[in-house]
Amino acid sequence: MLAPAKTNASLMARRRAALPHGLGQGFEIFVDRAEGAEVWDVEGRRYIDFAGGIAVLNTGHCHPALVQAMQQQLARYTHTCFQVLAYEPYVALAEKLNALAPGDFAKKSFLMSTGAEAVENAVKVARAYTRRSAVVAFGGGFHGRTLMGMALTGKVAPYKIGFGPFPAEVYHAKFPCELHGVSVDDAMASIEALFKYDVEPSRVAAIILEPVQGEGGFYIAPPAFAQRLRALCDQHGILLIADEVQTGAGRTGTWLACEQWGVAPDLITMAKSMAGGMPLSAIIGRAEVMDAPAVGGLGGTYAGNPVAVASALAVLEVFEQEHLLARSRALGDRLQLGLRALAARHGAIGDVRGLGAMVAIELFKPGAPRQPDPELTRRVVAEAAQRGLVLLSCGVYGNVIRILVPLVATDALLEEGLAVLDESLHAASR
Ligand SMILES: Cc1ncc(COP(=O)(O)O)c(C=O)c1O
Repeated sequence: MLAPAKTNASLMARRRAALPHGLGQGFEIFVDRAEGAEVWDVEGRRYIDFAGGIAVLNTGHCHPALVQAMQQQLARYTHTCFQVLAYEPYVALAEKLNALAPGDFAKKSFLMSTGAEAVENAVKVARAYTRRSAVVAFGGGFHGRTLMGMALTGKVAPYKIGFGPFPAEVYHAKFPCELHGVSVDDAMASIEALFKYDVEPSRVAAIILEPVQGEGGFYIAPPAFAQRLRALCDQHGILLIADEVQTGAGRTGTWLACEQWGVAPDLITMAKSMAGGMPLSAIIGRAEVMDAPAVGGLGGTYAGNPVAVASALAVLEVFEQEHLLARSRALGDRLQLGLRALAARHGAIGDVRGLGAMVAIELFKPGAPRQPDPELTRRVVAEAAQRGLVLLSCGVYGNVIRILVPLVATDALLEEGLAVLDESLHAASR
């Protein structure tokens, strides 16, 4: 007897019965295959992918160079545990990551598997080095779903609801966002307020921030803010951590977004696109800071998996061979141009912004003062999916549509995607 055809609906029914409710799913779509910036579902429908698996696919789905590198690695060895039996590609990747990070000082790196683990480990290293406990993060920030990741995250729903208590000694300051009335001065004042009301700066190990808030709404930290944070950290012996899990690996037009700050962080976390879809993350930092934890204090059974490392090394080669940093900037410009043209036609689009190819629109209700429109945002995303375009929303107000299209997408595909977005905005506004 023939097995029944797999449909999105039948697979959703199995998913609902077998998987917990808390594991969200943006769309009722099951993937069959993917290539570049396109995906086909189990029913043969094609989608343009403007989500990139949440910023993981800067080099696109199934890049042939990555597939080949992984296949070759699969045939040699897939796991030894780096702390038991080491392998050269891990060291080669660390050397390359050290060389690519900003700052005129010696650096060291180590690898983990997820973004949240990178954040956890950056905090561990900062605490070990400074022998201090407190960490300052920002409202609207997202740093992962582990306990410390959740503590650092500055967005309650849905990430923190019902999961407390969280690790102590985490404080949230304001992230600068002129659009919503928070200036760089306001944000700096909110840190000074923490130092006055909550925690003395001499007890603060680190300040952690995303150069562009990802889940929080694609709000860009002005370089002037990073520079003032750097000065504040230097004044008080605090370490500055750039969480580049979403911004890193070329998304913002430079390999790391913090290269555009004009000052260097002490520690950097990376994950997502650095290995093009394989679970790999990195902590990069000042050599003397990274050497603070005791031997055996860092690591993990799967951390720095050889197949993921092979993929990450191939990502770096693809970036060079295909000039993907230049492409990131060009693609960002093209997207912003297209989105500004849409904004001229759709009054709901109140802001178009981006850094490199990390681009977003923000939707508001009509009338003044402008109120965020999360319902319209949800409708636009749903209409787009029906028309074959995968979009992601984000933002503390749920009213931002972010674009994380693979950098290998052609201009024709971008235009096709923007045209679908145009139609979806029309349909959702009716
Ligand atoms: C800035 C940032 N930090 C940390 C994380 C957590 O990464 P992961 O989901 O791989 O644990 C994310 C994920 O979106 C992120 O955007």
